[in-house]
Amino acid sequence: MCGIVGATAQRNVAPIILTGLSRLEYRGYDSAGICTLENDEFNCLKTTSKVATLINKVKERGCKGFLGIAHTRWATHGIPSETNAHPHICGNLALVHNGIIENFKELKAKLQEKGYVFKSETDTEVLLCLIHYHQQDSNSLKEALLKALNEVTGSYAIALINKSEPGVLYTARSGSPLVIGLGIGENFVASDVLALLPVTRRFIYLDEQEVAIVTTDKIDVCGLDGKEHIKKAQDADLDAESISKGSFDHFMQKEIFEQPSSLRNTLTERLDDDSVRLETVIGLKKDSFKDLQNIQIVACGTSFHAGLVGKYWFEELTHIPCNVDIASEYRYRHAVVGNNSLFITISQSGETADTLASLRLAKTQGYKNSLCICNVNGSSLVRESDFTLLTRAGAEIGVASTKAFTTQLLSLLMLALIIAEQKGSLTAQKRHELIESIRQLPSLCEKFLSKDKDILALASEFADKHHCLFLGRGVMYPIALEGALKLKEISYIHAEGYAAGELKHGPIALIDRNMPVVVVAPDNALMGKLVSNIEEVRARGGKLYIFNSEEHVLKADTQTKVISLSDCPEILQPILFTIPLQLLAYHCAVINGTDVDQPRNLAKSVTVE
Ligand code: AGP
Repeated sequence: MCGIVGATAQRNVAPIILTGLSRLEYRGYDSAGICTLENDEFNCLKTTSKVATLINKVKERGCKGFLGIAHTRWATHGIPSETNAHPHICGNLALVHNGIIENFKELKAKLQEKGYVFKSETDTEVLLCLIHYHQQDSNSLKEALLKALNEVTGSYAIALINKSEPGVLYTARSGSPLVIGLGIGENFVASDVLALLPVTRRFIYLDEQEVAIVTTDKIDVCGLDGKEHIKKAQDADLDAESISKGSFDHFMQKEIFEQPSSLRNTLTERLDDDSVRLETVIGLKKDSFKDLQNIQIVACGTSFHAGLVGKYWFEELTHIPCNVDIASEYRYRHAVVGNNSLFITISQSGETADTLASLRLAKTQGYKNSLCICNVNGSSLVRESDFTLLTRAGAEIGVASTKAFTTQLLSLLMLALIIAEQKGSLTAQKRHELIESIRQLPSLCEKFLSKDKDILALASEFADKHHCLFLGRGVMYPIALEGALKLKEISYIHAEGYAAGELKHGPIALIDRNMPVVVVAPDNALMGKLVSNIEEVRARGGKLYIFNSEEHVLKADTQTKVISLSDCPEILQPILFTIPLQLLAYHCAVINGTDVDQPRNLAKSVTVE
């Protein structure tokens, strides 16, 4: 979702902020813009196309300066258009904004009464005019900004520049992420560290409701009450190369093939002979889970699917009841919190608005502790949770979550073993066996990836379909959901995942020879049941695509394609059987010519509700 970059330097900042903007493209956007301060005047250029078009415009028309801000917009208020695109300008001020100003209508009406005329349909222009309005009764822009921010409700990350303060970048956050990058004689702001890695690796993370005044040699941070906050800088654990496609055609493809190494990273120095090391979970103590009686997981999208798998594992391995909710549902239902409950959030980005809001709500609801499973150290979820388990997938740029998902699953499995040890629900021998299985995961992942060509061939049959069902049973049911989500989000083929046993309760009505049915069918205890469901589809003429284990090969025929995959320990099946489904979605999307890494209407980091 929207991306912000800003810079103040003693050199032309346009190339820096445009590079930063390109590096934020993965977040999803529909228009882009830049504004620099050049000879005491704003120079603002916009496009409703890609950042590359903006870069060309900057080359053709010229846009430079020592101070500048830029933005990629994901429309919330008003259509994608150059008028609605940021930066917005009002008098001496230019502003870019991520988030939603919820009381913008009331504020707009008040400002209109005072004579303000609005050019765009955006809530951002309302915030800008409000700051501009408060300049009249303030001694400084800082004072005006604080007055305006104390008046708005909703979420924001902003970067603001003033014609009469050539070296000063104003920035603030509440509910949307923002980092300050520290250079030598120059400083930067951005929505995330990836944007700024070509220019710095040292960052200050703004906390909720903080305002920073950034000049070339100084960062002053304060709260919304104007009181000074002392901040510490941190080094980023990513490098600039994290967002290069290398020899791959798409980030998603690269990220699928990175899974053996991302899983290996997730495991590094975390396993002993019969236990998962305590320090795997930051902040955890030896007896943190000793009295644990209930687990509540909350997440969105793919991360929610990981949570659903987690439920099967937690209940099987720790014998603790586990509930899983979609974050946008959890935050508006009246959850009953059991005794000694652990609240777990799962998120690749650590900034998903509904997940973050659920965590904040949970903190008022009587949970004993909160834990987040997250891929981004320093993100809001990490900073606000009691315990953190970092997934270490590395930067994930493709909108479709792949390596983040499989490392989330592995993290959930490790967490289940830690809880099981503290609760005494598994013998040391059983834990040892499971850990030996887990050690095989990266190499088994390579074997599953080696089926890429077979899956490409399958995709060429598949890509012209308009609908598709994915079936799985038990712990493979959430994997069927994930397979369907992956296919629909990047290839735009309508797909639904079902628990195979549910077929006869409704979806079977859809089965005919035009309805492909993908079945996730590893060899496990539910195989017999699944075979009956497969027969139900076959009997109605449905076309079957079965992902099967070598051990228990199901019979192929004219109606049935079987892709047999390496045998693997049952506990690893949800992680490994995800891989062919990712590849299927990827190849269908490429064949259909969609924008694989930035599919239409989607954002990587969903920072608004
Ligand atoms: C998955 O492919 C999607 N990009 C989406 O469902 C994603 O998992 C969801 O928006 C949650 O994001 P998070 O993990 O960053 O919280």
